[in-house]
Amino acid sequence: MVSHSSTDSDSDAAGETDLTGSSRIPNFFRMPIAERISALHQRGLISNEDVQLLTSGNHQVQLNVADKMIENVVGVFGLPMGVALNFLINNRDYVVPLVVEEPSIVAGLSGAARMARLGGGFTVDPVDPILIGQVQVVIDSNPELAKQTLLEHRDDIVALANSLHPKMVARGGGALDIEVFDYRAEEDGRLMVVMHLLVDTRDAMGANLVNTMCEGVAAYVEGLTGGKVFLRILSNLTDRAIARAKVRIPLKNLEGKGYTGEQVRDGIVLANDLALADPYRAATHNKGIMNGVDALALATGNDWRAIEAAAHAYASRNGRYQALTRWHKREEGYLVGEIAIPMKVGTVGGSLETNPSVRINHRLLGSPSASELAGVMGVVGLAQNFAALRALSTDGIQQNHMNLHARSVASTAGVAEEFFETVVETLIESGEIKVWKAQEIAKNLSRKVIMPETADRQSAYGKIILLGEHAVVYGRPAIALPIPLAVEAAVRKEGDGINVLIPRWGIEQKVRPSAPGFAGIIATLMSQIGLASENMTIEVFPHIPRAMGLGGSSALAVAILRAADEAYGLQLSDGRINELAFECEKTAHGTPSGIDNTVATYGAPLLYQRQQDEAQQQARFTNITLGQPLEIVIGVTGKESLTADTVARVRASWQQYPDRYESLFDQIGQLTSVGQSALQEGRLDELGELMNLCHGYLNALQLSTPELEELVHIARRHGAIGAKLTGGGGGGSMIALCPDATHSVQKAFEAAGYKAIPITLE
Ligand code: MEV
Repeated sequence: MVSHSSTDSDSDAAGETDLTGSSRIPNFFRMPIAERISALHQRGLISNEDVQLLTSGNHQVQLNVADKMIENVVGVFGLPMGVALNFLINNRDYVVPLVVEEPSIVAGLSGAARMARLGGGFTVDPVDPILIGQVQVVIDSNPELAKQTLLEHRDDIVALANSLHPKMVARGGGALDIEVFDYRAEEDGRLMVVMHLLVDTRDAMGANLVNTMCEGVAAYVEGLTGGKVFLRILSNLTDRAIARAKVRIPLKNLEGKGYTGEQVRDGIVLANDLALADPYRAATHNKGIMNGVDALALATGNDWRAIEAAAHAYASRNGRYQALTRWHKREEGYLVGEIAIPMKVGTVGGSLETNPSVRINHRLLGSPSASELAGVMGVVGLAQNFAALRALSTDGIQQNHMNLHARSVASTAGVAEEFFETVVETLIESGEIKVWKAQEIAKNLSRKVIMPETADRQSAYGKIILLGEHAVVYGRPAIALPIPLAVEAAVRKEGDGINVLIPRWGIEQKVRPSAPGFAGIIATLMSQIGLASENMTIEVFPHIPRAMGLGGSSALAVAILRAADEAYGLQLSDGRINELAFECEKTAHGTPSGIDNTVATYGAPLLYQRQQDEAQQQARFTNITLGQPLEIVIGVTGKESLTADTVARVRASWQQYPDRYESLFDQIGQLTSVGQSALQEGRLDELGELMNLCHGYLNALQLSTPELEELVHIARRHGAIGAKLTGGGGGGSMIALCPDATHSVQKAFEAAGYKAIPITLE
């Protein structure tokens, strides 16, 4: 279950070490989709199963299910699903799921929520989950008497309604009260009495429940009034379930883009004023509010038409259609915004049962009650209105759209994060928001700006196992190769304490020895090299994904150590760096072989063989000189695999059938030894064949997965001479040796939806 912890200001993001439930995820919009999903998972916002559903695309309504939902189904229609970040509501963090096709809504909401949290976030009152049912009675005469009789029998009517739904009463809900009114029909002047049944429907939207109750009391109502009941149905004007939310934004947070805080605040108040005075503006103003509300309604499987109907009817309650929000200037200078909007939603039943995305989105919100979800929806309406009015009061909506468009183009063009903002600005200035233009600008910038910057960065190698994984645990040799430039890091002497930024992974953390996981490990490293009390910012630029069996954690440690060494002139030897990285591996992974840290430090192809004798430990590694350059493409499944788990699985089989498994390990060991000479002598065809054989043995050890198999087959089909899983298996990565086909293998991996990393080893 998610713990939605609260954080009281934005500036504390760098200090947050416990990420659980946090809705601040720096650089989220720039991450590849898979990394966004894992950032949500890392914060405990979605489960393992959710990650699996999202990455496999199985989170959508399946066709056979859709066929049972409506008639004449011919397909399932897709819409983008995203999340708005930064929401702090009643001191709790929320990541808000949104399903919508219009650009700028998600970004607008995240930006508005970010600004709001600087002033303490949003507040919202509990929303009463009350739905009204209507019973229309046609009577011959004396409506006053009919109304009075109904009111006198209020308790009986309520009790009768509740007898039809005892479960709702047991859940603390049920019919509560009645109200009555009368009117004369416009067409033929007939007399009508209408009874409202007020029902607390708890976490259900309640439409069916209320309709059943209205139908169930109809005969009794006829008996009491002597009339004839006609309509018996809920009302979508759900004005007993009003979400009232509020936000207070300090002036200093409003300023920007050449406007003072006062100018922005007064502009928003003025824009709101027109929407209070004039229905033409009010319709557009409220449409903006519904941009956010509907997107969240869709994401949570709620009936957005019902919510729309309620909002617009309520907006006309004073006899004139008006804005649903109010923005004021308060004495102390603050901008204060308020919304009151009917919000009758459900968190049980309906699409929650049929649509896996809806279930994911409810979990993302911390599985709220209907009352809590209604509050969040009110807040989202207010935030969206703020974003729209702020944009309209400053650069205007078109400029904002342009900005977003430019961001998306820069992202498609693969612009590196270090000059992303500059490329976006230059693109807008150029008026030519095109992918080729973004690439051209980025290229020019990299010539001018980036070279000196990257020179400050220190790098470390990742690793792949070319041959011999798993058998290596049983004393056979393994060959490891380096992945050049796997992680880069730079240390700047600035800030307060030690902060680590990994923009690609959305990590922005203060490093403390007591911190769990990775921040604690870096803190220990820094104290081991005597820098614990320094002020520094460590920036890390990983070029390989996490937890994919590519030695990322060792590479991270080595790159950080080298960057600190460079910044503080410590003159650490490679041996010392390797030792320290090995200590990190032990803390992170228990009993590592030492391969990862050794390759991360020295960046050389190595043959590793475990030594029985402690005294011979130095002899574990033998350098290998390559007879020919190697061109390899790494295919990443995106499925995390824990090497410790696969090692344990293989061990269990070995324990059961030691002879059978020993002979498999022997086979792997033998082809690894032949592989060593093939590498040294540049016999690439033979090496490829050995890799294919090795994959077969690893398959026999049941270490492959459908994704790994798909990648292996794609690689072989597109010209790889050898392809195999690498490392632990059960997910993670595979490698393809493709001397003449690097490009086509890379493209084919990408076309099938996998990340591809080409490397060349000289
Ligand atoms: C566009 O979808 C919504 C806005 O028009 C709302 C408004 O004008 O307040 C920007």
